[in-house]
Amino acid sequence: MDETMLRRRKRLLGLNVNGRWREDAVTDDMLLVDYLRDIAGLTGVKTGCDGGECGACTVLIDGEATPSCLVLAVRCEGRHVETVEGLAANGRLHRLQQTFHERLGAQCGFCTPGMIMAAEGLLRRNPSPTDEEIRTALSGNLCRCTGYAKIVESVQAAVEIAP
Ligand code: FES
Ligand code: FES
Repeated sequence: MDETMLRRRKRLLGLNVNGRWREDAVTDDMLLVDYLRDIAGLTGVKTGCDGGECGACTVLIDGEATPSCLVLAVRCEGRHVETVEGLAANGRLHRLQQTFHERLGAQCGFCTPGMIMAAEGLLRRNPSPTDEEIRTALSGNLCRCTGYAKIVESVQAAVEIAP
């Protein structure tokens, strides 16, 4: 069997996605972003650059903000993956979703899920970040609509709301 055939072979991947255990057949070379969008149906995860440079695909892996285009799905065996779809609870928006909406942190919205997940990763490890810490945490996320001031303001506003 040649190398390409070996990489295309499927295996069973078990992981927790947004609080629910899943088992799916994936190829060894499938990226996490493609698994989340194409198999799990979580299209809030966006594909932008596909090379780790734009942050649109950011998800939390075991609570840490990570570009899902840089991670193979099979490397997430047994781990907890969270996407923007998993944030709202009991029919209520998550505080970051609420403040991005209220403070106009989203324009076209393409970068918004990645921005929110990067911000959520920050707020979990640092509940009261400074402006500088917010900007640093979001520095890997690009916005084509250049809405950075409103984005940072949205995160600042979320800090004031109890999680
Ligand atoms: S699509 Fe992953 S960083 Fe751009
Ligand atoms: S709101 Fe359009 S890319 Fe950021």
